[in-house]
Amino acid sequence: MKTVETFDALQEALLRLKRPLGLVPTMGYLHKGHLSLVKRAKQDCASVVVSIFANPTQFAPGEDLENYPRDIDRDLGLLKGVGTNLVWIPSVKSMYPDDFQTWINVEGVSKPLEGRVRINHFRGVATIVSKLFNSVRPDKAYFGQKDAQQAVVIEQMNRDLNYPIEIVICPIIREPDGLAMSSRNSYLNERERHAALCLSRGLNTARDAFQKGEKHADKIREIVANVVNEEQLAELQYVSCAHPETLEELEGEIESCLLSMAVFIGRTRLIDNIVLLQPNT
Ligand code: PAJ
Repeated sequence: MKTVETFDALQEALLRLKRPLGLVPTMGYLHKGHLSLVKRAKQDCASVVVSIFANPTQFAPGEDLENYPRDIDRDLGLLKGVGTNLVWIPSVKSMYPDDFQTWINVEGVSKPLEGRVRINHFRGVATIVSKLFNSVRPDKAYFGQKDAQQAVVIEQMNRDLNYPIEIVICPIIREPDGLAMSSRNSYLNERERHAALCLSRGLNTARDAFQKGEKHADKIREIVANVVNEEQLAELQYVSCAHPETLEELEGEIESCLLSMAVFIGRTRLIDNIVLLQPNT
């Protein structure tokens, strides 16, 4: 496994990699969710490139960029263990030089949900992913359903800008007790870690009700909110029952939806989601 930092070293190393080439973009502090993307890429592709870059432009002032967990040595060990061919760790200065002035704005699907509460977040995501695509020029790129709206935004950007890249969305990897894996779980103390189970519990309760015939969007949102509100350390920021592709909020009876939420557990902001589908759709 080779590790490169500069753009020139990346280009040099890419020349030696067999195609098809898979790219797995990450911000580091890797866990089994990230590794599942690398494993999937290994199955599909002859070579796999992983980027590690805590992208400053997708964090708003006051968010956790400065505290974002980092452990490059540990990350490299994990990536080697799953057969990664090349790791690219660019510097902030090289990705955003002082005269940087070009942004990718995916206008529609960036607006609701996370976009409503994290202003400019998806502008930062789309811009860095576009730069990673242009720099690595992969055949396939791998993203997690954990960040469901991010996946929709990137698929939209990929179509709109004619990237010849296949986007592969991989399922959410959870801890045995249901908590969706996230680098941010490392912020939680013991009590908060326990409280954080209210996210998956809320989603599962709503899924069970949906499977038993509850089809009202309002009711489904309410079921999630009730479960979260029972947890003292949790503060629900939003719960959404939205169209899985357009991300428009749904009203009335639904056939399918992306049920998603953001919850503060103490000062840690966690997101989770589930897609609800009728058995015959
Ligand atoms: P990061 O949060 O490091 O996540 C990197 C990739 O891993 C994303 O595609 C994310 O959806 C996926 N992932 C995270 N947790 C997961 C889980 N529990 N199961 C499955 N996949 C999971 O998302 C980002 O970084 C950044 O926004 C990035 C795309 C790298 C752009 O900066």
